[in-house]
Amino acid sequence: MITIENVTKSFRNENSRLVALNDVSATINNGDFLGIIGSSGAGKSTLIRQLSLIERPDKGTIWLDDVDLFKLKGRDLLRMRRQLGIVFQGYHLLEQKNVFENIAFPLQLVNMDKTAMRSRVEELISLVGLNGKAQAYPVQLSGGQKQRVAIARALASSPSLLLCDEPTSALDVITTKSILDLLVEIHRKTNVTIVIITHELSVVKAVCKRVIVMNEGSFVEDGSVREVFASPKHDMTKLLLSYQEGLL
Ligand SMILES: Nc1ncnc2c1ncn2[C@@H]1O[C@H](COP(=O)(O)OP(=O)(O)OP(=O)(O)O)[C@@H](O)[C@H]1O
Ligand SMILES: [Mg+2]
Repeated sequence: MITIENVTKSFRNENSRLVALNDVSATINNGDFLGIIGSSGAGKSTLIRQLSLIERPDKGTIWLDDVDLFKLKGRDLLRMRRQLGIVFQGYHLLEQKNVFENIAFPLQLVNMDKTAMRSRVEELISLVGLNGKAQAYPVQLSGGQKQRVAIARALASSPSLLLCDEPTSALDVITTKSILDLLVEIHRKTNVTIVIITHELSVVKAVCKRVIVMNEGSFVEDGSVREVFASPKHDMTKLLLSYQEGLL
């Protein structure tokens, strides 16, 4: 279980302070498929950077079971970072490496035995539906195929948590659907906890069980997708829903 406990993160600009996360708290259960939505600037990516231990909050902390993640140092911190899988909108693949090598990269970092690594990478290539593409380079792949490689790489070291920051917003609707179907299939097969950040309600509706709505650095709504979308309480949720329904 992940517990986000009173996390505050602010950024200092020249003469002002911007509070990107304002005392947010939530628990994420093992096996959850959680969507986090909110308009641009709501603090979604900032939250992902705290969850992935890329940044440190000013106040508050995040627990993984009984481990206070921000008390970890050195090797323990590195090991914990590797237990988290992250997928970004922009894929972040290594252009000079082929599909096999990109997926193998995190396993090489932990000096995995070559035979075990080969079978793990082959298993992942098949899981993400890229059979026959092991030798292809990123430049030879479509956006959807690149995102499949990025997902396989994020899953390589069997993370307990898969964080996805706008994983489909660079893709067309058909490819988006296929990537979302893939995430659902991965969730069903591995029961990995998935947190998906998006500004598209349709993405959350398609795949998530639970949703948190963010507005100006706060969690303004948290509940089951069905309940939150059937009876939205906060104005931001209502606004996002009305855009979705094309009412504005
Ligand atoms: N490194 C930084 N320095 C200064 N301000 C920052 C920094 N990172 C984020 N911010 C500010 O914090 C706020 C939240 O940004 P964040 O990227 O988390 O939003 P978001 O919800 O992910 O938006 P989007 O949907 O556009 O990706 C924004 O006002 C942003 O300008
Ligand atoms: Mg963002």
